[in-house]
Amino acid sequence: MRYRALGRTGWKVSEISFGAWAIGGSWGQVSDEESMAALHQAIDCGVNFIDTADVYGGGRSERLIARLKKERKEEIIVATKAGRRLPRQTVEGYSRQNLSAWIDDSLRNLSTERLDLVQLHGPPTELYSRPEVFGMLDDLVTAGKIRYYGVSVEKIEEALKAIEFPNVQTVQIIFNCFRQRPAEVFFARAKEKCVGILARVPLASGLLTGKLKPDSRFAADDHRNFNRQGKAFDVGETFSGVDYEVGLAAVEEIRQLLPAGFSMSQCALRWILMFDAVTCAIPGGKRAEQVADNCGTSELPELTPEAMAAVQRIYDEKIRPLVQHRW
Ligand SMILES: NC(=O)c1ccc[n+]([C@@H]2O[C@H](COP(=O)([O-])OP(=O)(O)OC[C@H]3O[C@@H](n4cnc5c(N)ncnc54)[C@H](OP(=O)(O)O)[C@@H]3O)[C@@H](O)[C@H]2O)c1
Repeated sequence: MRYRALGRTGWKVSEISFGAWAIGGSWGQVSDEESMAALHQAIDCGVNFIDTADVYGGGRSERLIARLKKERKEEIIVATKAGRRLPRQTVEGYSRQNLSAWIDDSLRNLSTERLDLVQLHGPPTELYSRPEVFGMLDDLVTAGKIRYYGVSVEKIEEALKAIEFPNVQTVQIIFNCFRQRPAEVFFARAKEKCVGILARVPLASGLLTGKLKPDSRFAADDHRNFNRQGKAFDVGETFSGVDYEVGLAAVEEIRQLLPAGFSMSQCALRWILMFDAVTCAIPGGKRAEQVADNCGTSELPELTPEAMAAVQRIYDEKIRPLVQHRW
């Protein structure tokens, strides 16, 4: 496993890290035993950074990570999130009282005295014009409840505003072969400011693994079933907001480019790692085999300029018209 500097934090984190949404909920049933095996596999592969949130399974994901930390002696940095427990996203909801209560719950779930990194979890765009919210986060740092903070954004414009606040250490954003705009308009600015970038939904919710078919079915409690039209949360979080059939057709074209020795997931993750502004990709993993496959990416060679150009062409022709103007 190779490691990259996480912005100005002084931490070096695994370039393939672990996204812990699916082990909490919203992705069909995953047993705690399977989840623990997946988490242990990640640590065995050299992962030292895990992304979670207070709302993933109502704290279940955070509690599993606390268990992992008890069972392992390696240093494990945990990034959690706060804000999605609001019944409706409003700037007023990000009050001092609410923030403190959410942080206290995450401290309890993660069995720790101080949270490593707290990300605002997709707050409304207007929040990025409210310095007082970032002031409250500064106060939580001063109080010793959190070490660092960052944001998890939907839109690039939010990311650009967020990094104007001097203590924002990280931006989590959707970035993958089907979401290329961050590289065009955000990465250079983030590098200038030395802000860490966490590339989320790196496998486009499984589309880029190459295993999905036109007739693939998803459980009722899997967002790939219930959020396809954005009924529960931003539609961009499910298959990156790409129409399922169009996505499958684009994946078949990417399959033709697959270098020898790469799985489809590894090709998608290696594409992300080609961008040095990215600190890490955080693929979700439900099973140990998936985690091992994903982590193996770090050992693989770079993609060729020809392969990069081909992915760009597939994006430009098939995907860009669907996503570029939206996020
Ligand atoms: N608003 C936010 O802040 C936000 C939103 C979304 C995600 N995130 C974070 O980003 C992380 C990653 O995004 P994501 O989990 O939504 O999507 P993702 O990483 O693009 O896809 C993950 C899913 O793909 C399948 N998979 C993973 N590795 C595989 C492999 N090697 N082979 C075959 N299938 C594989 C698994 O599901 P199946 O086995 O069921 O197919 C897994 O749950 C999340 O876990 C979370 O930490 C944050």
